Amino acid sequence: MRRDIVPVGADSLNYEIREIVGVANELKKMGLTLYHENIGDPIAKGEKVPAWIKQIVKDLIDNDLSWGYCDTQGVLATRQFLADKTNSEGGIQITANDIYFFNGLGDAIAKNFGFLKREARVIGPTPAYSSHSSAEAAHSGYEHLTYSLDPHNDWQPNVDEIYNKAKYNDSIAGILVLNPGNPTGAVVRKDILKRICEIAEELDLYVVCDEIYSEIVYDPAERVKLATVIGNACGISLNGISKQVPWPGSRCGWIEVYNKKKDKIFQKYIDTILKAKRLEVCSTTLPQMAVPLILGDPRYKEHTQHRIDKFRHRADEIEQIFAGMDGVHLIKPHGAFYVSVIFDDGVLNDHQTLPIENEQVRAFIEDTLSKKKFALDKRFVYYLLAATGIIAVPMTGFYSKHNGFRLTLLEEDDTKRVWIFKTIRENIEKYIKS
Ligand SMILES: Cc1ncc(COP(=O)(O)O)c(C=O)c1O
Repeated sequence: MRRDIVPVGADSLNYEIREIVGVANELKKMGLTLYHENIGDPIAKGEKVPAWIKQIVKDLIDNDLSWGYCDTQGVLATRQFLADKTNSEGGIQITANDIYFFNGLGDAIAKNFGFLKREARVIGPTPAYSSHSSAEAAHSGYEHLTYSLDPHNDWQPNVDEIYNKAKYNDSIAGILVLNPGNPTGAVVRKDILKRICEIAEELDLYVVCDEIYSEIVYDPAERVKLATVIGNACGISLNGISKQVPWPGSRCGWIEVYNKKKDKIFQKYIDTILKAKRLEVCSTTLPQMAVPLILGDPRYKEHTQHRIDKFRHRADEIEQIFAGMDGVHLIKPHGAFYVSVIFDDGVLNDHQTLPIENEQVRAFIEDTLSKKKFALDKRFVYYLLAATGIIAVPMTGFYSKHNGFRLTLLEEDDTKRVWIFKTIRENIEKYIKS
């Protein structure tokens, strides 16, 4: 090309969760059976959508309005329903006009960072969910700015670090929080979320809180929505139906904007996102029409409770299976459907291996690993894949300074799930000792 057409930040667009599948698919061709522990899609892992939810969607197909475009901001009745829902939680009061629909949160995240002034930075957690961290890094052209989540304190954010970094780096305009978190499954404590909002108010920043898993919190953790602690700070809550219905294929998510009118720059930023959205007309109509019908149905509460109980049970199950292990630390999740395991410092090295029965698979994986330097947890994950077919995601793929990996709690087949967790335990023990 006579001109370089690659944008600044292109190398930051990494999504390890799916990248490992490329390697796994090569191994599948060699006869390896795969167990996908990498993707947070409940449907792909066998969760059945209740008949009553399917019926709502079937009935909507008979409604011609569901086939048309809708308002750029989203279906008004749905936005009104969601505003009422937020208002009923007793925090900040919003209107339908404070809600904006997108084609999934993936689209919302891309637009939120895509239309942020290049020099304005958003500090986010490490470990981080790749869509946020990659989009922030790609938008700025620099490494993603992070604050730490502490694995020895249930992955809670380090608020002093947030304060100091934000205070002394005036490029920081926003603070990103994931609650519950991905890849951690951690639930941010109320006092901590409140403190983050106070920091934002004091330093004139905005808070972005990804709440896509907010319906999946298991006690003793308490579910705290941004709307209830935002106070006078500017804020954006991200939400959607991918995980809570679950309906990830709907590509339907929304943002709720808090205190938009309190700051002219913030208001203009939000208006810019809406203008950008207008260029593509609107987001998917039918799923938006389904939102109040599903979330407002009397059966929805029971459906959600059933799912919470299921994931809580599975969190207990893996905790028991990993109990008493040396060299690793499993951080029990209190929300969402992920579980993180980290290796103690110094436990991993680049000589460790696992026995791999299939000769072709062994040759492929060892050849792949010999070609460049791999993070030590990624190396373990590749060996685990080749030896067992289980696909985990290395923690370093989540912008993490801790070596470890993320699993999901999504496998619906009880026998298979227990086998997966036990097999991982056995293979960690073998790998560490090798
Ligand atoms: C924290 C978080 N935010 C957003 C998304 C993307 O959601 P959507 O399906 O609405 O694009 C995911 C998907 O895994 C996620 O884990």
